Amino acid sequence: MSILILGAAGNLGGQLKKIFSKQDCQAWDRLDFDFLNFEELAKRLRALSPSIIINAAAYNAVDRCEENEEEAMLAQRLNAELPGALADYCLEFGSRLIHYSTDYVFGGDGRLSGAYSETDKPMPVNIYGRTKFSGEQEIARRALAGLDYYLIRTSKLFGPKGENPQAKPSFFDIMIALSSKNETVKAIDGEKSCFTYTPDLAAATLSLLTDRPARGIYHLCNSGEATWHEGAKYLFEAIGADVNLQALAPADWPRPAARPQYSALANHRRPRLRPWTEALDEYLVSLGLKK
Ligand SMILES: NC(=O)c1ccc[n+]([C@@H]2O[C@H](COP(=O)([O-])OP(=O)(O)OC[C@H]3O[C@@H](n4cnc5c(N)ncnc54)[C@H](OP(=O)(O)O)[C@@H]3O)[C@@H](O)[C@H]2O)c1
Repeated sequence: MSILILGAAGNLGGQLKKIFSKQDCQAWDRLDFDFLNFEELAKRLRALSPSIIINAAAYNAVDRCEENEEEAMLAQRLNAELPGALADYCLEFGSRLIHYSTDYVFGGDGRLSGAYSETDKPMPVNIYGRTKFSGEQEIARRALAGLDYYLIRTSKLFGPKGENPQAKPSFFDIMIALSSKNETVKAIDGEKSCFTYTPDLAAATLSLLTDRPARGIYHLCNSGEATWHEGAKYLFEAIGADVNLQALAPADWPRPAARPQYSALANHRRPRLRPWTEALDEYLVSLGLKK
């Protein structure tokens, strides 16, 4: 099987590239070409003829697309039109598509507990979530025509930074940097969901390809739910940081995009991933911040 990874220089893409490195695998990112040039994309896909396409490219600037119409259009193109174009290719040539979506497709029902399952109805609360849901719908439409696909919803990614110099630092990376400069650090005690370690998500993606469960939607996150504040508290204790961690209510930190109050994902269809605390410990050891 020949594998193509899109967005390979991003945070998740980097871990996918690593885990698939022993296979027949090609990796593309922005330095290769702009994926939104669909003509060029189709030409390159036909030349490469991959049997599996893993799409880790996305528009992730949750607040920026809320403030600027052009950015919102870019988000729609990347998060919805691109997976649609990839799904068209996969349908035509009998390839399998793996695509990532987000816990931010949920939250509009105002739920405060009881993790969302794969069959719950998405109800996004912001533009980013709506564009990602739109991408899910593009795939669902081609699924009716026989598309072979796995749609993986995940949340709150952290792990080694991708090769792309623009790769966003994760929440934990930001907290680590803040703790080395500030005595007081604030974090929102809300927006509970599941932290996910990108090497674990990459391994869980590989296991989908080896186990071949039925096509469809899968929720893949590390086990356990946490608010941002709970994440920071565990982190600072684990690295022995001497900071005064303060809890903020979401309303005390207004941002352009609304956030789900609660968006934990329940994985009912695949083996559970280890607890996020264990995964974070491993990441901190890799950074030399924990023994
Ligand atoms: N990060 C999270 O916490 C989170 C949470 C839930 C779900 N997800 C989903 O998980 C997946 C992976 O996210 P991630 O955080 O690993 O993403 P990321 O780090 O932003 O990586 C995406 C990569 O795709 C590239 N890319 C974007 N647009 C492109 C284009 N038009 N042409 C060529 N390359 C392009 C990006 O390059 P540029 O930076 O140069 O654009 C970047 O290298 C996404 O589907 C995301 O929605 C992420």
